[in-house]
Amino acid sequence: MLAGERENPVVGLATGDTPGPMYAALSRVGLPALRAFAIDEYGGPRVHPCNNRAYFERHWRLIPGAGDVEQFDPEVADRRAECERFAGALAAAGGLDLVVLGIGMNGHLGFNEPGSKPHEGARLVSLHETTRQAAARCWGDHAPRTGLTLGLSEILSARAVLLLATGERKAAVVARALEGEVGPEVPASHLQEQPRLTVVVDEAAAALLRAAR
Ligand code: PGA
Repeated sequence: MLAGERENPVVGLATGDTPGPMYAALSRVGLPALRAFAIDEYGGPRVHPCNNRAYFERHWRLIPGAGDVEQFDPEVADRRAECERFAGALAAAGGLDLVVLGIGMNGHLGFNEPGSKPHEGARLVSLHETTRQAAARCWGDHAPRTGLTLGLSEILSARAVLLLATGERKAAVVARALEGEVGPEVPASHLQEQPRLTVVVDEAAAALLRAAR
């Protein structure tokens, strides 16, 4: 699974329902030494059962050999500066060897919502209504309005990308992202320009791909 030739590869990690089974599978086999960076975080409280920090406590900590995940701190006074700090820490680590991604119903990667440009780096963003609705499954009425995210710039310059998508509800966006026009309307469409992209989809999520018919 690990790309690159570095001794301690740097891996960017998604949260959400989609990668859960992958983390569960890894908990049975363990991991070699690597450095892990979260790709995003909600602009809400630092300690909250629905944020990404808590997700990694539940899904990553259980994996034998898994170390700390570098996280955005959403509670600092200056969250823009926090995004710069995080991007700086990733750059100092040599950038991403591998990034594991899910895809949002609106085509987002991390919290790079529609309109995001491929040159944009880590930053504070406003979450779109579809993202907030998905978040409301856990956060209820308190879904954060903002997110801290790696930009498409850091994500797309990863030396390898693994995109995961499962379930019928993702079929349309998967087809649009992988076989539609490339542009900011669907940020994940920029994955078409990534030379080392691996896509893992179940049959339901692949159903509308021309390539699968
Ligand atoms: P999900 O989220 O895996 O929970 O569907 C994906 C995403 O929003 O990136």
